[in-house]
Amino acid sequence: MQKLLVTGGAGFIGSNFVHYVMAHTDSFVTVLDKITYAGNVESIKHLPASRFRFVKGDIADAALVDQLVAEHDVVVHYAAESHNDNSLHDPRPFLDTNIIGTYTLIEAARKHDKRFHHISTDEVYGDLELDDPERFNEDTPYNPSSPYSSTKAGSDLLVRAWVRSFGLRATISNCSNNYGPYQHVEKFIPRQITNVIDGIRPKLYGKGENVRDWIHADDHSSAVLAIIDKGVIGDTYLIGADGEKNNLEVVALILQHMGQAPDAYDHVVDRAGHDLRYAIDSSKLRRELGWSPQFSDFESGLEDTIRWYRDNETWWRPQKAATEAKYRQQGQ
Ligand code: NAD
Ligand code: TYD
Repeated sequence: MQKLLVTGGAGFIGSNFVHYVMAHTDSFVTVLDKITYAGNVESIKHLPASRFRFVKGDIADAALVDQLVAEHDVVVHYAAESHNDNSLHDPRPFLDTNIIGTYTLIEAARKHDKRFHHISTDEVYGDLELDDPERFNEDTPYNPSSPYSSTKAGSDLLVRAWVRSFGLRATISNCSNNYGPYQHVEKFIPRQITNVIDGIRPKLYGKGENVRDWIHADDHSSAVLAIIDKGVIGDTYLIGADGEKNNLEVVALILQHMGQAPDAYDHVVDRAGHDLRYAIDSSKLRRELGWSPQFSDFESGLEDTIRWYRDNETWWRPQKAATEAKYRQQGQ
């Protein structure tokens, strides 16, 4: 039985990964999570004690990390400060967790010679023009725009350097925007769904023409498992499911599936430095590791997600008022 240490496993994508691993493998999982405002133990409750353990702690705590890494076979590193808007108002936690936290983990993985998988984002590549026929691929130069994406880029480069200089047995994946259950209501899709539930009109930054390449969190999880299983040490894999949509299109679908008028949304002040478009070419992952996404229909995945937020109000309700109060202060 493989023992996985999953950092950030109480967050959105990490908790989806934990559920995916429980359902599709016989691995033992330990989650290491600090439970910041973005972590929620409710997302990983009722898991079998014979295969699951939760440790509350900081990935920058070297003594704790050293001990936990030593006890596991593979480290899957999701923990991060993850929200661009927060990074524009208070960058410091992004440096502490994304840079120093990642450094702390790879030092322990190097010392104990453990397999390491680093979870990252396509935002390290900057953005694309709307009409650019190219998409991001593994050779695209790094060009991050925000404190969030620049600290993620820095963490990727640390992992690459530890592979080359110290022989760290690591792989990296850069995935596009995820959607699905357990996502914090500060993020675009859950914010709009829960706004509609609360009788608030969805809020679009700027003109709403920015494009994101949506992938279901379960497809991200299956890709990560494939990379841990079959990926080439030292390699980077881009994960995406050909899901490009602009923000206006996504809001229109949410309004349609929630029984609202098509124009029942507001434009609000744009994000500073707002990346225009992300788009992933995932052909390396598909060709070399035989991966393919299972959620090819964004609209039905979105319907499932709307249903999940309707059915799980107790999960998100405690976060909603404070999140909206913060956005109101920012004019968003
Ligand atoms: P999230 O904010 O929902 O979850 C992050 C988790 O990390 C939380 O549970 C939080 O408590 C924990 N955490 C934060 N700082 C910590 C620390 N110092 N020590 C221990 N735990 C800490 O984020 P997410 O959206 O699930 O993203 C997870 C990872 O996936 C991140 O590395 C992010 O860069 C990457 N990613 C996200 C997306 C996306 O669409 N959300 C896309 C591609 C890649
Ligand atoms: P977000 O979920 O914050 O992800 P990211 O910044 O990592 O792509 O935002 C997704 C897109 O939605 C992005 O273009 C910003 C936009 N957005 C809105 O238009 N309104 C909102 O209320 C939020 C939170 C985001």
